[in-house]
Amino acid sequence: MEFKFNVNKLLPRKINKVTHNLVPEDFKGDRRELNECQRMLSRILDDMGEASARAQGLNKPITSALKLRDTDHTIYLLVDNEANNELGSVVGLLKTGSKNLFLFGETGKHYQLQARCILDFYVHELRQRMGLGNILYQHMLSEENIRPVKLAIDRPSEKFLGFLHKYYGLSKIIPQNNKFVVFEGFFDDGT
Ligand code: ACO
Repeated sequence: MEFKFNVNKLLPRKINKVTHNLVPEDFKGDRRELNECQRMLSRILDDMGEASARAQGLNKPITSALKLRDTDHTIYLLVDNEANNELGSVVGLLKTGSKNLFLFGETGKHYQLQARCILDFYVHELRQRMGLGNILYQHMLSEENIRPVKLAIDRPSEKFLGFLHKYYGLSKIIPQNNKFVVFEGFFDDGT
């Protein structure tokens, strides 16, 4: 996704982390520059959030700058720094966060726990099935020091389920009463 402004200046890394304060990781500047930065970042999050919702057939976005503000959520943005005449383009978004969930274990045992969750995941339509989603996912796993089986997934699409099976061998779903999906191994000890 291309923007009129210089994406690379705002998001210089291949994968950039954004949290509730909407300040890019490497930000250096004064108050005026910070406001400008937050305005541009909000635009990116809102547009990517809308594109993700469209791709998932949802009628409203799960991700926006406003929704991020009062949360502990982390958004990873994948940038193609060479695209759009070296201005850069945003090609992927992955959002994680912690949620207090009621979940059933493999034997029907009931748990209430704080689970790390995948809340939104999107790669631009023209860039899907090229391995970019997995680059983003691998980065998140290493940043958050977590194994794929330990993540609860908020309403995964068929494409995402295929992705988890292909790369991480996850296919055995433990049925739940809510919209979250967890796989066999989720409740096993160890991180
Ligand atoms: N049809 C079926 N499976 C697909 C498709 C597709 N159109 N696209 C990706 N996949 C799965 C397959 O397993 C595929 O492997 P294959 O090509 O060998 O069949 C694998 O993902 C490809 O892996 P990557 O190239 O690393 O992933 P990609 O860059 O395509 O990103 C993603 C995966 C984010 C799911 C992307 O396809 C996408 O944005 N889809 C639309 C939005 C969506 O469904 N997001 C997940 C919503 S659920 C949630 O966010 C909690």
